[in-house]
Parts: sequence; structure tokens; C-alpha cells
Amino acid sequence: MTTLFDPIDLGAIHLSNRIVMAPLTRSRAIAGEVPNPLAVEYYSQRASTGLIISEATQISQSGQGYPNTPGIFTDEQVAGWKAITDAVHARGGKMVAQLWHVGRVSIPDYQPDGGQAVAPSAIAAVGNAMKRDFSMTPFETPRALAVEEIKAIVADYAHAAEQARKAGFDGVEVHGANGYLIDQFLKDGSNQRDDSYGGSVENRSRFLLEVVAAVVAVWGADRVGLRLSPSNGSNGTQDSNPETIFVHAAAALKPFGLAYLHVIEGEPGTPMASWDGAPKLAARMREAFGGPVMLNGGLTRELAEAAIAEGRADLVSVGVPVLANPDLVERWKRNAPLNTPDKATFYGGGARGYTDYPFLEAAEAQATE
Ligand SMILES: Cc1cc2nc3c(=O)[nH]c(=O)nc-3n(C[C@H](O)[C@H](O)[C@H](O)COP(=O)(O)O)c2cc1C
Repeated sequence: MTTLFDPIDLGAIHLSNRIVMAPLTRSRAIAGEVPNPLAVEYYSQRASTGLIISEATQISQSGQGYPNTPGIFTDEQVAGWKAITDAVHARGGKMVAQLWHVGRVSIPDYQPDGGQAVAPSAIAAVGNAMKRDFSMTPFETPRALAVEEIKAIVADYAHAAEQARKAGFDGVEVHGANGYLIDQFLKDGSNQRDDSYGGSVENRSRFLLEVVAAVVAVWGADRVGLRLSPSNGSNGTQDSNPETIFVHAAAALKPFGLAYLHVIEGEPGTPMASWDGAPKLAARMREAFGGPVMLNGGLTRELAEAAIAEGRADLVSVGVPVLANPDLVERWKRNAPLNTPDKATFYGGGARGYTDYPFLEAAEAQATE
């Protein structure tokens, strides 16, 4: 029987095990949204996971929506990432860049012209945005994108994909989840366009498929993954029939032969949890997609093993537990206790809660002192 500790090939990317570090925004980038030099140590500490997915990286200035998130569109940003991928490779790890445009989950503070955020339709996200100084402010109504602007954003994804190659990544993951721009196009609660990008499931999938095609043209499909969240309402996104749109999208992606599809189906009470009564769609999406499926959302070792045994996933990604346990793979292998995550240091700050979570030996030594 397949276990979490067995290797797997995701397209052209060979993983030594099936436990992947989920993408985790840490809001520690330095001036110019360049990755923090501390990220070299942070990521290389976690290189024993089968694959590291970088924190979300904005593909352009208009794609940013949170303070101090790193970009991948300037050469300074690429140089910052190159130091990280080199260190991860030196430890035998693999790493892909998560490519991100937040769409309406932005505010004028981040926009290059200080204007409105952009979105499929002029419908505001739900909740509060975080300003550059980490204070909160309600989301404002975004501006609906013109068709030429949509094409320009697709070109920004292609540019970011090229930059990710220069930065030495093993591939890229297109962030299509959690209420950001691609998810806003997919779900009918945020997409009420009446042109070729709105209405039918074919039209609502169009932007996603154009982005995937553009990124595949740079990397080849066997080094491109995609993340989707069919059943959470992050940032106020919702769809009247998630099963129809997401199974359609998975089937439409099949001909590309992508490296993997990453599906969030969050357990209650965990970050990005699915809404109550949300349908479990990963197995159906896996069938329609026809390639490797990575499952995420509140997975313990037991739940991860069950997801693989029950055919909902080929591998899993793990967020908060890897944030707090750089050696999670070893700990799961040995059934060892886990460090407690410190929520206060998730976003922003320095080394504390970032590079100082103890490895197993150090934690055991502390416990016996
Ligand atoms: C601090 C934090 C930052 C996150 N940043 C991202 C991100 O940049 N991109 C993304 O797709 N998901 C992000 N997520 C969601 C995680 O990737 C993951 O889906 C979530 O934590 C559930 O998995 P887990 O229960 O294993 O932690 C973030 C979650 C947390 C807690």
C-alpha cells in the first residue's frame, strides 16, 4: 500500500515523499517586496518535505493585497528567491513558486496608481483588508476589468513564470484558490460579467485556462501545478453550484497534463476550512482531472493517510504543522509530538516564530532538561 513516505513524480518533479509544505504567507518581505534574507534559512529548514510551495508571490504590483508579501516581477525579487532555491536544493529539496494576483482583495494603498483594486465585477470582498502598516480597513468596491486588461494580467502571469525560472525554482503553482482573482472569476458570487468571461461554466473558467496556458508555455505542463478551493468562502467568495464549476474546471484542465492539482477541502476549525455542509469534491475532481491530486486542509497524519487510502489524493500538503515543525516528515515518521504553533508570529516580524521552531532533537533535549 502507498504511504506518505513513498516517493512520487509530479510531472517532471521528483519528490522523495508525499508530504508537501503548503504555501504560507509570512509577511516578512523587505523593501521592494524582496524576500527576507531570513527566508533562506526558514525554507531550507523545511527541505525534507517532498516539495516546498512558496508563500504566495504577487505577479505584479496590482496583484498585492497584504503588507510585506514578496513579489516575483522585479529582478531584485528574483535575486532574493534565487538565494532561497539554491539553499533548498543544497539540502536536497524541491521548491515551486506560488503565483498570485489578489484581485478585489486589495486596496488603493497597494495599487500602482493608488486607484481601485481590480476584479471580474464591481462587487466588494467581504471583511477587512490589511494596510501596509498592518492596520485593518474595510474592503472597497473594486473596478471591473476590461477585456484588454484581462489579457494584460495573463501576460503578467507569463512574465512572473519566466522570472520564476530565472530564480531557480523547480516549477510554479498557479494560485487559483481562497477568493483571489482566479477564484473570483470561477465563482458566480463574484463574477457577474455578461461577456465571454462570465455566465456559463465555460466562460467563468476562461481566465483560469488562459493563465494556465500562458504559464505552461513558459515551463511546460510537467512543471506547473494549480491550487483550487471549491468549498471555502475565503474573502467572501461563493458559488451557487460549486460541484458543477469545479468538476468542469478539473475536466477542462485535463488536456494540459499538469504536474498536479492541489485541492483545499478544509477540516472544520482549520485555516481555510470548508463551509458547513460543503460537498467533498476532491475525489470527483481527481477523476475529472486525471493527474496527481494533492489534498490540503487540517490534515493530521491519520487523516492524510486515510485520504490517500480512500483515493481522494495522491499526496497531501500541510500548512500550520510545517510552519511550526521544520522536521514534520521525521516527526510523522516517528509518531513524535509536535511543536505548538504561535499564531502571534504568523504574519510579520523577524526570526521569532519563523526560523526558531526547534527540531526534534532540540525539542527532546529541552524537555529532559
Ligand atoms: C499563516 C498562513 C498563511 C497562509 N498563506 C497562504 C498562501 O500564501 N497561499 C495559499 O494558497 N494559502 C495560504 N494559506 C493556507 C494554507 O496553505 C493551508 O491551506 C491552510 O493552512 C490549511 O492547511 P493546514 O491545516 O495544513 O494548515 C495560509 C495559511 C496560514 C495559516
